[in-house]
Amino acid sequence: MLLEQRREKVEEILSHYPQKRAALMPMLYEAQEVYGYLTEEAIREVAAILELDPTEVYSVSEFYSLYYHKPTGKYIIRFCTDMPCALVGAEHAYQQLLNLLGLKNGETSADGLFTVEHCVCLAACATAPVLQVNRQFFENMTEAKMRELLETLRTSGLPEDGPVMKFQPRTADTPTGF
Ligand code: FES
Repeated sequence: MLLEQRREKVEEILSHYPQKRAALMPMLYEAQEVYGYLTEEAIREVAAILELDPTEVYSVSEFYSLYYHKPTGKYIIRFCTDMPCALVGAEHAYQQLLNLLGLKNGETSADGLFTVEHCVCLAACATAPVLQVNRQFFENMTEAKMRELLETLRTSGLPEDGPVMKFQPRTADTPTGF
C-alpha cells in the first residue's frame, strides 16, 4: 500500500541515504500516514522496502512516541505543556483546545478526525504556546487561532505545503494564552 500510494516519495527518501536502513524513521512516518497507524502490514512493508527484519522495524517504532500502533484520528494534535511553554500559559491554552474539541487528553473524536495529546518540548519554545498537527507546527496559539485551525482542518484539511499559520516571533504584545 505504501509503495502503491507513495512510490515517488519512497524513492525520494531512499535517495537521501547511502544505506536503505538509514531511511527507517522517515519511512515509518510515510507508512503511518498511508496506513493510518503502524499496522503489522505497514511494519512488514517498511521492512521489505528497507530489506530489514520486521522485528527490527517494530522495535524501532515502539521506541518513539511519534509512531502509533493503534488507530488514531486523521489529525494527531500534540500540544507542548513542558515547562518553558507552561510559563506562558500552555496548560491553560491546552485546556482551551480540549474544550473546543470536547475531548480529554489522549482521546480521539467520534468522527475520527482528531486525536489530541500533550507532549514534552517540541523545540519551538520561543513561539509558545505551540502545537503540532501531524508533522506541521502551529505557533503562538490562542483560543481564537485554535478555533480557526480546527475549522480549517474540518473544512479543507491540512495544507501539504506548510502551516496554516506562519511563524510569528514572540513580542511583548503576544498573548500568553491566559
Ligand atoms: S517547552 Fe514547549 S516547545 Fe519547548
